[in-house]
Amino acid sequence: MKKAKIGLIGLGAMGRMHYDCWRKSAHGQLVAVSDRNPKMLAGDWAGKSFNIGEQAAQQVDLADVAGHLRAEDLIADPNVDAVDICMPTPMHAPLAMAAMRAGKHVFCEKPMSLSLDDCAAMERTARETGRQLMVGHCLRYWPQYVKAHALLASGEFGRALYAGFHRSSAAPMWSGNDWYMRGAESGGVLDMHIHDVDVALWWFGRPQSMSVTGLAPHGLPLLIDAAWRYDGGPAVHLHGAWDRNGGAFRHAFRLVMEKGTLVHDTAVDAKALTLLRDGQAEPVPLADTSGYQDELDDFAASINAGRASQRLTPADSRLAVEVGLEELRQLGVGG
Ligand SMILES: NC(=O)c1ccc[n+]([C@@H]2O[C@H](COP(=O)([O-])OP(=O)(O)OC[C@H]3O[C@@H](n4cnc5c(N)ncnc54)[C@H](O)[C@@H]3O)[C@@H](O)[C@H]2O)c1
Repeated sequence: MKKAKIGLIGLGAMGRMHYDCWRKSAHGQLVAVSDRNPKMLAGDWAGKSFNIGEQAAQQVDLADVAGHLRAEDLIADPNVDAVDICMPTPMHAPLAMAAMRAGKHVFCEKPMSLSLDDCAAMERTARETGRQLMVGHCLRYWPQYVKAHALLASGEFGRALYAGFHRSSAAPMWSGNDWYMRGAESGGVLDMHIHDVDVALWWFGRPQSMSVTGLAPHGLPLLIDAAWRYDGGPAVHLHGAWDRNGGAFRHAFRLVMEKGTLVHDTAVDAKALTLLRDGQAEPVPLADTSGYQDELDDFAASINAGRASQRLTPADSRLAVEVGLEELRQLGVGG
């Protein structure tokens, strides 16, 4: 089977997650990696932590892939078809646009950028160069969220009346240069909360209005509590929180429809989706897949097929940023 040749830029927490996925992918083959940290390029990945999922081994064998200290050199590498950008958010736009102009397809971690002008420029560059651009809104591939969306769209349980989304974690302290703690670079907790923003937009569309409360000490958003309103539609509440004292990562949703409620909560069972109806709870069968693996496989398979992914467009990703920035403005952060 044809496999897109992938160059991975950034071997931090997310880069290591993507590394594991590319090593298992049936659609993409890892051919190059880039990080400015020579220890990472040498395969010495000991001593890092992260808030989600499995991590690659502490020592990895990178003998079969090219190593580039400079991202620009990976982008120029003629053996690379597509670039996977797992870098701090301010570097997404410049690297993605440079890669597309060099003829590479681009997978870029979320958020697309915290500048709407940059988001628009990324979209425009994808159009002008004819390259694919996909942003890592991985919940669109997460089994519980995929299934809930399918059940909602099927109409089997009637209309949505209420949806609540929860995402909380210890504030991310794993980054070497602490870019997450600089609100202008990371967006603070919006970095994580934007996953739920994207899901709510995917399931219900853009809200007519919203009201937001929260906390953003010294311009660093740590808490976002948003109530989105839809005329004649569901009440949607979203809660995102970073805790500087620590704590486990938890994400959850509750989708109340006229004839059934779907509940997912990693604090109860990370693998489960439960259907409540007529006072009874029953497990919903799910595909045994990983959201990260599936999103990257979809990206690579789309490249191999010469078409854009049908699941997630750059315009979807730009809208998530637009709505997320509106929430931050209501917290008094941003212009
Ligand atoms: N989809 C998800 O669930 C998810 C989860 C966590 C993070 N992310 C996103 O992934 C991206 C990366 O986050 P992270 O947690 O991996 O960050 P990180 O700080 O852990 O890693 C960044 C890596 O980039 C490297 N780097 C930084 N500047 C560089 C430069 N100029 N040249 C070469 N290498 C450089 C660093 O050495 C580091 O290894 C962010 O946009 C973040 O929002 C997504």
